[in-house]
Amino acid sequence: MSFAFAEIKLQNLERNVASIRDKISKNVEVLAVVKANAYGHGSIEISKKLVSLNVKNLAVATYEEAMEIKCAGVDADFLILGSITEDEIIKSINESITFTVYDISQLHFINSSTLENISFHLKIDTGMNRLGIDREEISESIRIINNNKALQLKGIYTHFPEANNINSLFTQKQIDDFNKIILNFKAEIKDINFFHIANSSGIFNFTNSNLNMVRPGLALYGISDNKKENLFPLMRLKTSLIKIRRINKGESVSYGRTFISDRDMIIGVIPMGYADGLPRALSNKGKVIYKDKECKILGRVCMDLTIIDLSNIVNPKVGDEIIIFGHNSLAATDIAAAAETIPYEIICGISKRVKRVYK
Ligand SMILES: Cc1ncc(COP(=O)(O)O)c(C=O)c1O
Repeated sequence: MSFAFAEIKLQNLERNVASIRDKISKNVEVLAVVKANAYGHGSIEISKKLVSLNVKNLAVATYEEAMEIKCAGVDADFLILGSITEDEIIKSINESITFTVYDISQLHFINSSTLENISFHLKIDTGMNRLGIDREEISESIRIINNNKALQLKGIYTHFPEANNINSLFTQKQIDDFNKIILNFKAEIKDINFFHIANSSGIFNFTNSNLNMVRPGLALYGISDNKKENLFPLMRLKTSLIKIRRINKGESVSYGRTFISDRDMIIGVIPMGYADGLPRALSNKGKVIYKDKECKILGRVCMDLTIIDLSNIVNPKVGDEIIIFGHNSLAATDIAAAAETIPYEIICGISKRVKRVYK
């Protein structure tokens, strides 16, 4: 039996899609990023809901992620953003799944194949120095694409490393550079459907980067520090108390005995640990919510269990609900800050054994 639950409010996905659409022009398509199990929210359920909201372009990291969603009956246009083998390129073409060419060798590979209707997006690096062809490889790419009718370039795109910084001159330069690259492609190749750069922070902070497609991930899931963006978290992570105990002043708690009590106290055990996605970095630092009150995490977070301070709780009972995040006073961003990481890592890290419950 699962003792930890991630409640997912699909209605908030609808609100977040509306907030994103409010921010972009009517002719701009939303390419919803549902990779990494839709950032921990369950890619099949999230994709189904997105399609019902008329978001029909879905981005995943891998061929397997696309197939998992497609095989669940989701009728969408998939774009694989990330790594792909030559074998998976062939399978993607056969499955009508669009993939990204992020290295010139992949363009050579598809150019030499005998397959038809090879639909792909070309990623061009403008400063992230991760995936994408170099700018010096653009002319060669255009020449290859123009000389082979089987190659159908559906889109070109690039990626922001710091659009979260609203004053980033680097981001503005990327936008300018990419606009020049677009002009170059448009002059040489007809019928490229999509031009895109903006991730969530790009959409909200750099509206001139929206082009004709945007790629929101985090914003869909309602995570942001900026209230003006009108985004609402989908996930509430919760569990329940499974044991209460009294300890005396001077006793220690959990592995490594890093917490020693300075008084007699009541403590509780919750069935959630780092194997569920509760970061071990929250040991002696984090807190949870019990009956709208904060309870500190005591000692080390264990693999499946965590110990909390019940001193503030009147009449605690085994079975009572405990909220890990997704409460007015404790968001995923707070957990991330306490664990010295980013909210992406927190939500993506919620493991398989945490049951997702859709509302
Ligand atoms: C290529 C690409 N586009 C878009 C996104 C979505 O980014 P965000 O979640 O910040 O909106 C990601 C996320 O990692 C990505 O790798």
